[in-house]
Amino acid sequence: MNVQIYDAHPTPASLHQEVLRGLQSSPKAIAPKFFYDARGSQLFDAICETPEYYPTRIEKQILRRYAGEISEIVGEGCLLIEPGSGSCQKVRLLLQDLKPSIYMPMEICHDHLLKAAQALVNEYDWLELSAVCADFTQLNKIPDMPDEPHRLAFFPGSTIGNFEPSQAVNFMRSIARLVGNQGGLLIGVDMKKPAKVLNAAYNDAQGLTADFNLNLLGRINRELNTDFNLENFKHKAFYNESEGRVEMHLVCERGHEVTLGEESFVLTNGEHIHTENSYKYSIDEFHELARMAGFDVERVWTDDEHLFSVHYLQNYDA
Ligand code: AVI
Repeated sequence: MNVQIYDAHPTPASLHQEVLRGLQSSPKAIAPKFFYDARGSQLFDAICETPEYYPTRIEKQILRRYAGEISEIVGEGCLLIEPGSGSCQKVRLLLQDLKPSIYMPMEICHDHLLKAAQALVNEYDWLELSAVCADFTQLNKIPDMPDEPHRLAFFPGSTIGNFEPSQAVNFMRSIARLVGNQGGLLIGVDMKKPAKVLNAAYNDAQGLTADFNLNLLGRINRELNTDFNLENFKHKAFYNESEGRVEMHLVCERGHEVTLGEESFVLTNGEHIHTENSYKYSIDEFHELARMAGFDVERVWTDDEHLFSVHYLQNYDA
């Protein structure tokens, strides 16, 4: 058993800079990667258990059902890299069949990473684990990858949908570089479907998605000493059909001033802070992006209702 933590966690200065830039832009926006402090990560895990949020449940069904097939295509003994590994739940569905030589979870939230890594090595005592605490959108900053020729990146959960499509292509290009020639990418992608299903998934009855959205401002208050009044904001999420994405916003219902360091910002009544896009793709739309990133499409698995898809892509020309 081997747990190594390499810490490339973003500094408070980089959070400050990005939040400042977001509040200066029009409309105001804050990147969704900042949802995931310890509380945000817990809330996200709880959202995944709600009956409305189908992606986690369905993707797990697909992985469970096809783990054997996936492992046959990939082959045993790979270096398995998981950018944004969270609580490392989904990888458990692959480990037994895939038998990676090393598992490398990458996660922005230090506490979450440490807990998840420890639980995993307790459960799989044969597993070599090398954990990296980092912002996975900065893959080029990850030093000293183990010298394993056979690499597979695992990127489940449709997190790719949280990138703008052009950024998704750039991100997949950086994955292609990371896994090298003949390396693979196993990626989960949420599919287009009726607005009713999507609107319910992002407006769960328990209000966990609302808490998750609002925690973004709570986190910024805690870490940057800002004074957002959370009671003045309301969660809003809806499917924007023409853009093919679910949008999340925080709507300011009572205007107030907020101070961030030396700067202050006025939030007016009805003003939105755009906090997340979650793009949904048909299989053809996603394959077009994958090819633009330099991957060949090897296989795709989906559920009977075509709610969610899992793709195995291979990089032949890095
Ligand atoms: C992590 N990501 C894929 C989730 C999504 O569905 O876009 C985040 C999320 N936002 C609200 N609910 C879940």
